[in-house]
Amino acid sequence: MATKKLVIANWKQNMVFDETAAWCTDFGRLLKDGKLSERVKIVVCPPAPFIEKVHQMLHPLGVLVGVQDVSAFEDGAHTGYVGVNQTKHFTKYAIVGHSERGEDCETVAKKVELCTKAGIVPIVCFKSPDQYKKFSGAVYALEDPQNISQNGLYRAKSPDEVCSLVREARRFFGDGETIVYGGSVNEENTSGLVVIEGIDGFLVGRASLDPVAFYDIVSKLPL
Ligand code: PGA
Repeated sequence: MATKKLVIANWKQNMVFDETAAWCTDFGRLLKDGKLSERVKIVVCPPAPFIEKVHQMLHPLGVLVGVQDVSAFEDGAHTGYVGVNQTKHFTKYAIVGHSERGEDCETVAKKVELCTKAGIVPIVCFKSPDQYKKFSGAVYALEDPQNISQNGLYRAKSPDEVCSLVREARRFFGDGETIVYGGSVNEENTSGLVVIEGIDGFLVGRASLDPVAFYDIVSKLPL
């Protein structure tokens, strides 16, 4: 298990520039007023165009920035793609293989390789245990697509279900690896999840769009 707990905000394709800046201001205020444990690491993954802005506003407060995806290609003629070299100055993490992107294993493996080469920690998402694969230096995110919030509605697993999923993942990946759980994690259910043995943190989508809800989740750690 990781020594520091990790809470990752995955904003997906949400919020425009002004909303992003307002989120950072509000979250920054909560961080300054509150007393978060030093053992919690916060990573915010905004849409790519806002990475620099979020970094500028939140990095001084100790928040790390991640990218929601990276290109599977080296630099070159790949219109519209954002590669590790374009993002690595601002991002320490990259979400890779999210189920909403529908990628095959080779593409995911290529992205992991490029991240690692660039010094970015890949957060590799797995839909189900039969897909588990070890990648040196990665964070493993357990995310059953059935439990990812949809149209603003949470579809959470019960803590018991999360517990068995995490136990199985822990057996596969080993004690030393970082495993986070995602899928409808929100301010209401975090307390029931933080007590589960073997979880190193959470990957939070919808609830991370509200700075107060996200801060609430973060403040319930360390586990
Ligand atoms: P959710 O999304 O928290 O809205 O379910 C999680 C994710 O897909 O990363």
